Amino acid sequence: MDKMLVTGGKKLKGEVSTGGAKNAALPILFSTLLADGEHIFHNVPDLMDIKSTRDLLESFGCETEFSKNTLKILVRPLKTYEAHYDLVRKMRASILCLGPLLARHQQARVSMPGGCAIGSRPINYHLDAIGQLGCESEVTSGYVVAKTQGLKGARIIFDMPSVGATENLMMAAVLANGTTIIENAAKEPEIVDLADYLNKMGAKVSGAGRSIISIEGVKSLKPAEHTIIPDRIEAGTLLIAGAITGGSVKVNKCRPDHIEALISKMRESGFDIEVGEDCVSVSECKEWKAVDVTTAPHPAFPTDLQAQFMALMTQSKGSSIITETIFENRFMHVQELIRLNAEISPKTRVCIVRGEQGQLMGAPVMATDLRASACLVLAGLVAKGETCVNRIYHLDRGYEKLEDKLTKLGASIKRI
Ligand code: UD1
Repeated sequence: MDKMLVTGGKKLKGEVSTGGAKNAALPILFSTLLADGEHIFHNVPDLMDIKSTRDLLESFGCETEFSKNTLKILVRPLKTYEAHYDLVRKMRASILCLGPLLARHQQARVSMPGGCAIGSRPINYHLDAIGQLGCESEVTSGYVVAKTQGLKGARIIFDMPSVGATENLMMAAVLANGTTIIENAAKEPEIVDLADYLNKMGAKVSGAGRSIISIEGVKSLKPAEHTIIPDRIEAGTLLIAGAITGGSVKVNKCRPDHIEALISKMRESGFDIEVGEDCVSVSECKEWKAVDVTTAPHPAFPTDLQAQFMALMTQSKGSSIITETIFENRFMHVQELIRLNAEISPKTRVCIVRGEQGQLMGAPVMATDLRASACLVLAGLVAKGETCVNRIYHLDRGYEKLEDKLTKLGASIKRI
């Protein structure tokens, strides 16, 4: 099993580019099930989760071809409406095939995604929402079995703005009879990218990016071509990588307007951040102060950058309070940071991080999930000596060639 060996102490310097957004690509790739023919996507990151999505689409009978970040998907009449456990267990986001299968084929059998390291992650909002569009579903033998006589538009109010449930519902509603209104919808940039692709296929989705989304059902859709938006979490991770080493790094090919909450917290902490149209840079900084962060749905501070920001706060002057409100168990990285000598007091949803430059000492640590792995790599960049991050396969689910990008910036990091 691959490990990442990071030798701390190098100041990062230079320019780096982000790739396409994994979390935008996944729902968009599943939305191809809504229209037969060839769909073409550019800026698709080369990641394990993309491979898992291709495997699932191929199991339905689609053909896929991936080369140099361009993915072609040929959708033909499907040979099955079942998403098998063996494929779903590799990636929770597989549940996103439910909406398109029901919209197009009125039936689906999808393995229930299990819990994961960061929380129980139920799918009740997904099932309630499609139920309100006129779909019957039950969970038997670990599978969601869903059927409809034809989906009908409805007004759906989410208890909380779930990203995945909003996406599944949008994909179910585009071919429904009548208009669907989603209230308290998720507002993440990935929702807007999905709406853009659905509209390119001929759907009538308006309001994506705001809390009320309106979807007027259409009779059919046709395949289209699309460029996936840049990955805001990767951009944020690379910016923090520069910052934590006190270096100067420019992140190109990103959307600074998608990471405003991070930029604002970094400025509050004392970093000089410059923003261009499609780039953002951090300048050398000797000392930065502790700031408090609370994760919340977009446009607030993203839970997917909480672990990386905590690594940055271990090097700040003073104590910061980091509060996680999205997932119930997203502090798995804390015990590992403590192994690196960080001074952190974890409570259920809150951590107090007492920062001090130079406090981290290299040690073997274990990655528990995707963003926790990134946090440990970042911590390794400033820890004295060597940090060996085990179970690095989590990182490969969401970051394309992170070690190459960091090496180019001057980090001492290698995969073993
Ligand atoms: C997506 C992202 C993930 C990110 C998260 C929050 C993808 C592939 N993943 O995950 O990286 O961390 O948004 O920004 O895009 N919930 C329920 N019932 C449901 C659905 C969700 O209780 O049916 C809860 C979840 O347990 C969680 C919260 O709602 O506590 C938010 O989850 P959600 O926004 O749905 O996250 P995902 O779509 O799974």
